[in-house]
Amino acid sequence: MSEGKHTIFERISRKSKPKDVMHITARESAQISRENRRITDAIEKERKRKNVPESEYLTTMRNPDNVVEFDDLHTYFFTDIGTVKAVDGVSFDIPKGKTVGVVGESGCGKSVTSLSLMQLVQRPQGQIVKGAIRFDSGEKVYDIAKTPTNVMETIRGSKISMIFQEPMTSLNPVFRAGDQIDEVISLHNPQMSKEEVKNLSLEMIDMVGIANKEGVYNMYPHELSGGMRQRIMITMALACKPRLIIADEPTTALDVTIQAQILALLRDLKDKINSSIMLITHDLGVVAEMADYVVVMYAGRVVERGQALEVYKEPCHPYTIGLMASKPVSNRQVRRLYSIPGSVPNPINMPSYCYFRDRCNKRFEKCNGPYPEEIRITETHSVSCYLFDDREFRD
Ligand SMILES: Nc1ncnc2c1ncn2[C@@H]1O[C@H](COP(=O)(O)OP(=O)(O)OP(=O)(O)O)[C@@H](O)[C@H]1O
Ligand code: SF4
Ligand SMILES: [Mg+2]
Repeated sequence: MSEGKHTIFERISRKSKPKDVMHITARESAQISRENRRITDAIEKERKRKNVPESEYLTTMRNPDNVVEFDDLHTYFFTDIGTVKAVDGVSFDIPKGKTVGVVGESGCGKSVTSLSLMQLVQRPQGQIVKGAIRFDSGEKVYDIAKTPTNVMETIRGSKISMIFQEPMTSLNPVFRAGDQIDEVISLHNPQMSKEEVKNLSLEMIDMVGIANKEGVYNMYPHELSGGMRQRIMITMALACKPRLIIADEPTTALDVTIQAQILALLRDLKDKINSSIMLITHDLGVVAEMADYVVVMYAGRVVERGQALEVYKEPCHPYTIGLMASKPVSNRQVRRLYSIPGSVPNPINMPSYCYFRDRCNKRFEKCNGPYPEEIRITETHSVSCYLFDDREFRD
């Protein structure tokens, strides 16, 4: 993307008129597709330039203690019925050596935020249209939003890796587990001999707590249990000792005891290889167990963030309070779990006021105003809600 005051998307979209996306005719839909193509073609053309100078995508961290800084990230999908603002101005940091839990209901933009960081958003319809994602690889600091695809290939998998929810769909069923780990290691370490690669694979299998390492190395994914497959996925994700591990719902497909073992393993390995974790989950219990910091997302925006302990002790945003109330508690008997009434607004037609207003039981006059600004209530804890207007923290 070029430097300058406005991104390509902003320059083009200022010329286009907004559409009423709720009731569109086939003609209007065709018009939206043409418009989308114009926007995405221009962004893609810029992305596909050859020999982009480093000065366009190398940057510096705002705080050198962070490994990642999301800064006003906007990731949109240009669909035939309108623009889905999946991530709409997200800012938060991932400090080095820490675990940051990202929570929120389905569809609030958790995965799209992490896919933006990996440059794996479905293109051409999905595009980062504004903002920066600064990533400190140890040697250089990249703005991922501007980093060319060929450079990104050297970062993805080796400096940032990802653990997905369903290991069976992420592992290739026709190759043995060991071969798949070998492949990841040799891809990122072409100088290593075959024997060195195998030894490292076995060492990694051992590290994720698998006793029979030689046996498992030679097994196919279908011969392994769900928990074992997830351990193999973790082995592959950690094989290159990444600076950051993104774990997107890593344990939801597993039963509760295995879930706890895998989480403990991840926590332990993160410290062993001196990495950080971005942990995406619906489950506030998992965050409480694992995370140092919590980011609560709602409808493509961060509504509350802070140290895990402070958010647990004093959840501020009515949405966070609702999420907490819908979390099962082990020592309390409840007949029915609470669920927040209503649903997330249509991501194509977001309101101009607080996105949570129509579901909020604490709304008052002021909430009809513009979307609330983020208010810092302690040095590390902030919330976007009018209820806290008079609580602003000053250093
Ligand atoms: N390829 C796509 N095309 C169009 N819209 C998309 C696409 N991928 C995601 N979206 C939209 O972006 C929004 C955010 O989706 P995302 O997958 O980030 O949610 P999530 O918070 O990860 O939810 P879940 O908890 O269900 O995984 C949703 O409204 C979703 O419909
Ligand atoms: S700003 Fe108002 S409507 Fe929005 S969450 Fe706060 S109290 Fe509720
Ligand atoms: Mg998701």
